[in-house]
Amino acid sequence: MRRARITSLATYVPPRLLTNADLEKLVDTTDEWILQRTGICQRHIVEKGVGTSDLAKEASLVAIERAGLTPDDIDVIIVGTTTPDTLFPSTACRLQTKIGAAKAWGFDLGAACSGFTYGVTTAAGLVSSGAASHVLVIGADVMSSIIDYTDRTTCVIFGDGAGAAVVGVSDDEAIGILDFENYVDGAFGEALQMPAGGSLMPASAETVEQRLHYVKQDGQAVFKFAIRNTEEACRRLLERNRLSASDVDLFVSHQANRRIIMSAAEKLGVAPEKVVINIERYGNTTAGTIPIALDEAVKDGRLKRGDLVLLASVGAGFTVGSILLRWGTKQ
Ligand code: COA
Repeated sequence: MRRARITSLATYVPPRLLTNADLEKLVDTTDEWILQRTGICQRHIVEKGVGTSDLAKEASLVAIERAGLTPDDIDVIIVGTTTPDTLFPSTACRLQTKIGAAKAWGFDLGAACSGFTYGVTTAAGLVSSGAASHVLVIGADVMSSIIDYTDRTTCVIFGDGAGAAVVGVSDDEAIGILDFENYVDGAFGEALQMPAGGSLMPASAETVEQRLHYVKQDGQAVFKFAIRNTEEACRRLLERNRLSASDVDLFVSHQANRRIIMSAAEKLGVAPEKVVINIERYGNTTAGTIPIALDEAVKDGRLKRGDLVLLASVGAGFTVGSILLRWGTKQ
């Protein structure tokens, strides 16, 4: 088996900002409440007519270049997204044409906020087995397309953004993706969902009138599940690898709420200075948060070759994922 690693990373967020002050004009909320309860100050939002594949394209082309590759070298494209451009064709197919990855096959991966972790896990399997050499993994969402900007309990949380990684063969057995712990718990699915628009409740005048094409969530239930299961998945992963939280150099969790991340880190025993937080500037970009946070950590010089990195995600489903890796990219 070959060791897979993240060879390169890149991100893209649309330029337009939606600040807490902007939201104060839309719903009954305050900058103080949003900051205190979520840690968010602003989010990036697309202009009308911009889809997930457009954000993914910008991030992907840079990631491919940073890996020292051309689009022709990409074997597989995996797009983790909850907001595909269309139900079909897939965003992966649209992206394949936009970036000119002539030899790639690919698909969309529906795991909500675990889209990137599940994508990297899948890519690592393809690379390790020899089925692929270069897999482009994207976590991208245009959450503003499914957010109800009259609902203060959801509209303050989400933003738009994309991250892309090339997963390839490691040049060093000690560097790369070491292990993962993924699981789902479908019993709590209704706590975070978009009720209409699928086969169960196709779009109709009634579903639009009842605003069922927007994110609905039981915030408290999601909050508690996220803390408990971020900790649980990471703990299992560390124990299986005979590691402890103090061995972790950087903890990059899905950015859903500052309080969720810090509470999970504390329960796990990861020191606050090892936790990456950038939710204040992006909000929750769903599948985009982990690659965006990881890319920022690289740019900020917080990662050096050989560092032990723990990624963790909890998303609608519920989907839970965690990945342990030793850092080492071409960048
Ligand atoms: N501005 C002001 N007040 C708000 C508000 C807002 N944007 N949203 C909710 N409130 C109010 C509520 O109506 C409630 O008022 P009440 O006490 O008069 O009924 C009060 O604030 C507390 O609501 P509660 O839901 O208990 O707040 P909370 O501390 O749990 O924070 C969330 C709400 C949504 C921020 C939090 O539960 C959360 O982050 N949950 C996880 C959501 C998530 O991560 N989703 C994506 C997962 S990938």
